[in-house]
Amino acid sequence: MTKRYAIILAAGQGTRMKSKLYKVLHPVLGKPMVQHVLEQVSAVGLEEVVTVVGFGSDKVKEYLGDNTKFVLQEEQLGTGHAVIQAEELMKDKKGTTIVVCGDTPLITKETFQQLFDHHEKEGSKATILTAKAPNPFGYGRVIRNAHNEVERIVEHKDATHEELLVDEINTGTYCFDNEALFEALKEVSNDNSQGEYYLPDVIEILKNKSEKVSAFLSSNFDETLGVNDRVALAQAEKTMKLRINEQHMRNGVSIIDPENTYIHSDVVIESDVVIYPGTIISGKSIIHEHAIIGPNTEVSNCEVGAHTVIKQSVATDSRIGERVNVGPYAHIRPDANIGDEAKIGNFVEIKKAELGKGSKVSHLSYIGDAKVGSNVNIGCGTITVNYDGKNKYLTTIEDDSFIGCNSNLIAPVTIGKGSYVAAGSTITKNVPEDSLSVARARQTNKEGYASRLKKRLEDK
Ligand code: UD1
Ligand code: CA
Repeated sequence: MTKRYAIILAAGQGTRMKSKLYKVLHPVLGKPMVQHVLEQVSAVGLEEVVTVVGFGSDKVKEYLGDNTKFVLQEEQLGTGHAVIQAEELMKDKKGTTIVVCGDTPLITKETFQQLFDHHEKEGSKATILTAKAPNPFGYGRVIRNAHNEVERIVEHKDATHEELLVDEINTGTYCFDNEALFEALKEVSNDNSQGEYYLPDVIEILKNKSEKVSAFLSSNFDETLGVNDRVALAQAEKTMKLRINEQHMRNGVSIIDPENTYIHSDVVIESDVVIYPGTIISGKSIIHEHAIIGPNTEVSNCEVGAHTVIKQSVATDSRIGERVNVGPYAHIRPDANIGDEAKIGNFVEIKKAELGKGSKVSHLSYIGDAKVGSNVNIGCGTITVNYDGKNKYLTTIEDDSFIGCNSNLIAPVTIGKGSYVAAGSTITKNVPEDSLSVARARQTNKEGYASRLKKRLEDK
């Protein structure tokens, strides 16, 4: 079988984005564009991938890591010049090299696969992935001859009036015979309106050498969108969102309003989950079967157990067990570990805390830096006082305890198994198991005092 390689072009500054962030790092559904590209193209099965990066590209390297080699393009002199930077690493290879832009995040592995297959079946030296664009503005146009063969590509800025009417565009993705590519690149000049070395010029150069050049027309323009500005970025976000949502729906997830539900690409969702509108599920979240998420909920990097319900809430970097009820208006902050059948009610914040099976924090509480056993009831307005301005301390509440409303538990402190804390207590010392702890002033009633007080005030 022919060996397959890839070169990803990611060195452009992306001036049209008007951003300090490197263009190909702009995220689409939470993942940098270039990472989408690398993942999809790599899925075809490649011998090697080389990514061309520019200055300030450490972040690109961080994201892509060991999955590609890198070469530096010191000055951005055009896409042809970018590919030449890979010459040292690539020139001796025999096989097919796909060149992909880091700013076309929607092209799928299936399309890459089809392009490779078509190219190799045709025995072409170059095959361009093309598409019919409803609005071809800004793209290079594919110019064909009287026999409908591809002749060359003309950039929008260099095109004549007539050429601008062509709606078949260059998607910026090509398969090449590797050796023919680097041979032809030697002849590319920068004699054009932008003074750049254009990769697409390789097509005309090969054609003039009577080499076979072909086009593979993608049936799906949506996939081939090139993101040059924020308007296109929003379009990419929308297309990717609907694509991911459709996949989940086909896998048995109910999404009430797919237009208004944002599921990032690494999220795993089991069947019979229901997702209500306004929900964002991101990071490496896993949602187990029959969970109900939303409306208006953010879940990031969380595992959510089966049959759990999360409404109008935010949960980050945490584990939430099965049959748990969260919200409305709860905030689960990093490192929470919520046991099965627990309840986290309205206006409750949980941070770096473990909550055992069946424990309930139903209203208006802060539980941070805490280890709460199972079957514990935490009354409304309870606060684990975990911070002295410098250090954080642990509150431990053992199984079957009952914390009365409006209690302050001043950490470090332990409430022993099965104990009661009276409402309104400020607990500063450990409570032994099986106790009742009352830590508040005793009540005194002065009968008849109210009218005596009023009279005294009137007489003044
Ligand atoms: C390019 C194509 C155009 C095609 C379009 C598809 C050229 C000359 N034009 O135009 O025919 O229709 O893509 O989206 O190739 N890059 C570098 N180094 C450079 C310049 C660019 O690495 O010196 C990278 C960019 O990071 C980007 C990609 O190459 O990922 C494409 O560059 P861009 O400037 O966006 O080209 P377009 O004008 O979109
Ligand atoms: Ca582009």
